[in-house]
Amino acid sequence: MSIRDLLRGLPVFARPLPSFRTAGAPDDPHELFAAWFGEAVAAGVTEPHVMTLSTVDADGLPDSRVLILREADERGWQFATDATSPKGRQLDANPAAALGFYWREQGRQVRVRGTVAALDAATSAGDFLARSPASRAAALASRQSRVLAGPADLERAFTAAERTVEQEPGTLSAEHTVYAVTASTVEFWQGDRDRRHVRLRYRRDGSGWVTELLWP
Ligand SMILES: Cc1cc2nc3c(=O)[nH]c(=O)nc-3n(C[C@H](O)[C@H](O)[C@H](O)COP(=O)(O)O)c2cc1C
Repeated sequence: MSIRDLLRGLPVFARPLPSFRTAGAPDDPHELFAAWFGEAVAAGVTEPHVMTLSTVDADGLPDSRVLILREADERGWQFATDATSPKGRQLDANPAAALGFYWREQGRQVRVRGTVAALDAATSAGDFLARSPASRAAALASRQSRVLAGPADLERAFTAAERTVEQEPGTLSAEHTVYAVTASTVEFWQGDRDRRHVRLRYRRDGSGWVTELLWP
């Protein structure tokens, strides 16, 4: 069967979906994100902390990849990565990004756009040390997104990093960095079986937020 035929047979929004009453929405999108995230966890959404991070490279070409959300608080939506990775270098040159969450069990999408900054070294160190030994070893071994000559190089680097973590558990990764997205807009999107999708966008306006409903 062709991809086209398979696509024609795939349903979307074919399950009961929550409603989204925008009239009572909080003034601050961080509050609504916290509420929606809690609802996603309670609804058993698979990996609700997995999001897409989009950045732009030096030629203006967009790039995106999946990351884990590490925190979302007054400092913004946070993720951790290798600062020398392609995304780290892209953010260095152009500190702007978009995040996308899709909680399919609820037909919900959250889109965050804004500026990005690395948080202080203590936050990155704390994030690193809170990880399991296996995760720390992987981060220490990794030369993220560099060309790998072969599996033997990976094995050697992992074995050496595992030994380091075992013998010196306080070892930090100089590259491991927590970044925070300070939102300029946050959109909450609730899918509807009849395609009357409900969209509420928060736009930063001075020290507050303006909310607008959007056509589906
Ligand atoms: C579910 C999932 C979670 C991931 N979480 C992270 C993460 O938190 N940090 C990270 O650097 N890469 C994470 N990755 C790997 C990235 O998608 C990506 O391959 C890597 O960061 C290199 O991206 P870059 O070449 O654009 O810098 C994750 C991948 C998946 C599929």
